[in-house]
Amino acid sequence: MVAVTARACANIALVKYWGKRDAALNLPAAGSLSLTLAALATETTVAFDPALSDDTVELDGAPARREDVARVTRFLDLVRSQAGVHVRARVVTRNEFPTASGLASSASGFAALAIAATRAAGLHLAPRDLSILARRGSGSAARSIFGGFVRMHAGGTSAEAFAEPVASPLAERVRMVIAIVGGGTPKLHGSRDAMEHTAKTSPLYRGWLDQVPRDLAAVEAALAAGDLDALGPIVEANALAMHASAIAARPPVLYWRPATLAVLAVVRGLRECGIAAWPTIDAGPHVKVLTTAEDAPTIAMQLRNLDGVTAVTISAAGEPAYAFDPARIVALPGPS
Ligand code: PMV
Repeated sequence: MVAVTARACANIALVKYWGKRDAALNLPAAGSLSLTLAALATETTVAFDPALSDDTVELDGAPARREDVARVTRFLDLVRSQAGVHVRARVVTRNEFPTASGLASSASGFAALAIAATRAAGLHLAPRDLSILARRGSGSAARSIFGGFVRMHAGGTSAEAFAEPVASPLAERVRMVIAIVGGGTPKLHGSRDAMEHTAKTSPLYRGWLDQVPRDLAAVEAALAAGDLDALGPIVEANALAMHASAIAARPPVLYWRPATLAVLAVVRGLRECGIAAWPTIDAGPHVKVLTTAEDAPTIAMQLRNLDGVTAVTISAAGEPAYAFDPARIVALPGPS
């Protein structure tokens, strides 16, 4: 029984993915663009084992919930059918950050699972094919195969909906200050259902979708030019436009808490004092602030003092996902 361990970092979208055009294939309605973050990593070990009658999934030291196991099984079925493998797998996964809190654990989780599961099944996929496969687990996971800035293509067909890295002189310089609001408790609306509900019921969804290509073009130009002052305002506006569309859904999808707004206000104040700081928010109450290595400690210090902010982390850009060297692979213990 060969166990393979892979490590992937989560990513935070600078231009958000919010809505699918094909739910079964997980094809995004539009492109997106993200920054992979070193501080938010997941390690996942997979071993296919003929002795198992079902897939087993351990998440952060405890058996995973039934719906999470079912989601992993659906994903492993794709790998099994590509590899011609018919046995069940043991999956052990550990997040170095709070799970299911809007901190993109599905992105790093499915990217690490795609690499570990394909290797354990004897497949050696190219990064682009891993990205396409990871997308089937979670749209944002397609981006976590790569490091630094990453562009996701909406694509025409499933084979065209992959991510790829975007080179930028900003990759070394940027940081994200991650302000956890409300202690990393599970979020109220999963992104999968919330984006579908927004697309179906929000009168603002069409406006959001029309804006995304313009934001992508502007962000790509800013990245190519290494121009953080051009990048930042688009990142903030794009996130708020995504949330505006969600808030206008019926019934509304509102992720923000009072401390979320307090962070936005502090960030605006810091910017007025000449600090490089632009906020973004995903499917949860936390705020991630795009900044520079020089300004990150000042922002972190200000945010730590806020009521309702329970933790603050600074992250640099993360590396591409990878499988551990086979010399470090250890066999998973059998069922006790
Ligand atoms: O990959 P999913 O299905 O968890 O969706 C991610 C949605 C956002 O995090 C809100 C935006 C994004 O592009 O990551």
